[in-house]
Amino acid sequence: MKSGFLILLVLVTAALGAGFVAFSFLHNGVSAKATPTALEVIMARKARHMALPNSARGLRNPVPASAENLREGRLHFADHCAICHGNDGSCDTMMGSGLYPKPPDLRLTETQNLSDGELFWIIENGVRFTGMPAFSNHHSSPEDTWKLVQFIRHLPQLTADERVEMEKYNPKGPDDRMEEQEENDFLNGATPAPQPESHHQH
Ligand code: HEC
Repeated sequence: MKSGFLILLVLVTAALGAGFVAFSFLHNGVSAKATPTALEVIMARKARHMALPNSARGLRNPVPASAENLREGRLHFADHCAICHGNDGSCDTMMGSGLYPKPPDLRLTETQNLSDGELFWIIENGVRFTGMPAFSNHHSSPEDTWKLVQFIRHLPQLTADERVEMEKYNPKGPDDRMEEQEENDFLNGATPAPQPESHHQH
């Protein structure tokens, strides 16, 4: 009886979801520029929550929250995640703001209320039909992912110094590298002052 009700609930949710997808396609085409409606966000989060295995949700973080582990998670985040999520987790980035659905502000309660196991599962497996990639295939060990979970917990208290250090670990293009080299040469007294660079607009 109980499972019958659950199946019905899943079917109704799926039908409503499909209806919304159809409505939003008719409304906005397939452009990623729009912002999902509040209802769409709630439904997507509910569906994701339901799709997550129960066993995964209850997992405890086995990695101790030492200063060293937290720093490793922070620098790893700067290297792999900040391009979409921003060093501060605000998701106020060129990539993040161009996605549909957009990544949420990781400092807010919606994310902070997810269990450690849920955060771990999302980082390892990604979220289908969104820009959130699965990281378990390519990057390092589950331990690294647990350190990222710890860093996400730390995000609401991120300090200015920690942010400055993260900027050194953000992936850089050739222009940024050249500018950095010129600044370093200048500081070491090797060359005259760097010329101000004209940056292209994003
Ligand atoms: C290419 C862009 C992109 C990259 C890179 C990326 N993410 Fe995400 N992330 C997203 C998007 C989009 C979502 C929203 C998924 C959804 O709507 O369910 C998301 C969601 C999440 C969530 C769930 C937050 C919530 O409240 O629903 C966590 C946690 C997360 N990302 C962590 C990470 C970590 C850690 C990394 C680096 C290892 C990372 N992400 C890299 C785009 C990205």
